[in-house]
Amino acid sequence: MTKNLRMIDLFAGCGGMTVGFASEGFKPVLAVEWDRAAAATYAANFGEDHVIAGDIAAVPDEVIPEADIVIGGPPCQGFSNLGLKDINDPRNQLWREFMRFVKHARPKVFVIENVDRFAKSPEFAMLLAEADHGALVEYELQHAVLNAADYGVAQRRKRTIVIGSRIGRIELPAATHAKEPATGSGLLPWRTVRDVIGDIPPHPSTTELPARTSEIFGDPMPGVFRGLDLHIRRTPTSKSLDRYSFVPPGGGRFDLPAALLPNCWANKPTGTTDVMGRLRWDMPSVTIRTEFFKPEKGQYLHPQWEAGDWVEEYGKHRSDPVRSVDRVISHFEASLIQDFPSDYRWVGTKIQIARQIGNAVPSGLARAIAQQIKPHLLTVGASDARELSAA
Ligand SMILES: C[S@@+](CC[C@H](N)C(=O)[O-])C[C@H]1O[C@@H](n2cnc3c(N)ncnc32)[C@H](O)[C@@H]1O
Repeated sequence: MTKNLRMIDLFAGCGGMTVGFASEGFKPVLAVEWDRAAAATYAANFGEDHVIAGDIAAVPDEVIPEADIVIGGPPCQGFSNLGLKDINDPRNQLWREFMRFVKHARPKVFVIENVDRFAKSPEFAMLLAEADHGALVEYELQHAVLNAADYGVAQRRKRTIVIGSRIGRIELPAATHAKEPATGSGLLPWRTVRDVIGDIPPHPSTTELPARTSEIFGDPMPGVFRGLDLHIRRTPTSKSLDRYSFVPPGGGRFDLPAALLPNCWANKPTGTTDVMGRLRWDMPSVTIRTEFFKPEKGQYLHPQWEAGDWVEEYGKHRSDPVRSVDRVISHFEASLIQDFPSDYRWVGTKIQIARQIGNAVPSGLARAIAQQIKPHLLTVGASDARELSAA
């Protein structure tokens, strides 16, 4: 006999969290996501039958099933470093919706993931208060900021993870990887960009997704796409190409010759260093965001760069055009860095799919959390009414 561990994924996006939990044998019984393209990607991978493609606030209590675990990432723009810090931002109230689902699904465990600064927010303080003397009083909370790179993901991405348990304290998972593992620590070295995209063809043959539609939730939607369908390049101007050519691995806007700087940067000589940056082969990537396809948004240039001609006028080498790849990473490469399986099925336009990829929790991080929680769920409640035979 084994348990069929039932899970609810709220704010499910395209399913990054579910990928990790499903790989540990959890069975999704409900997913809620209001971005229809993201919900359709989720449905293309895990089935339409249990997906509500709508506003979480509109889901009636009566349709919330019982579950062993509720997982989810209420949107974080309200307190992200990149967004407004207005505590009255209605998006910050969405964690209360999460709590409503916990109340009705009666899970033994819940998991909240959010931006690294979540633990400093007033909403987090309210969550602690609920667990101390409010609606969540049965649950013991543990929280920490985890870096996906420490769990075998080829990306430095920090997220606050909260585990709430009413079956005894559950610690956050211990790291399995480290930047420079000490001898005898048992830790593996961080996985690198080379590990996950090193074999991908350097020169995508197309700029567009295939012209294909599928009916999902009764509507025709672009897709389903998978694998190299997503390996698309952009069409930069010759000036942009010129700029990329001067950025070595790990470098960024400060490597651009002054004559090639866009006005906005030329007039603002300080500020974010990783814009127009280039990834390094032998490091995990920077955080993949929703606009990874715009080099001016971060360190998203392909890591392959070898010095070519010396340009006297600028006092710098430009890239060797044969041994360098002067483009941003493709959607496929971004999905692999975000730890999606290479045959994951995607639905939506280029921009919608990029948003889904950038918003996701890397599955390796989710898997580590699932592995940590699963033994606790399996050892409690031999009398659990939902105990089922192994499929
Ligand atoms: C950080 S993303 C979740 C990513 C997901 N956990 C994953 O791993 O792929 C947050 C999601 O919440 C969704 N969302 C925001 N407000 C919502 C609402 N009121 N109802 C349902 N979904 C909502 C957004 O569309 C977004 O996809």
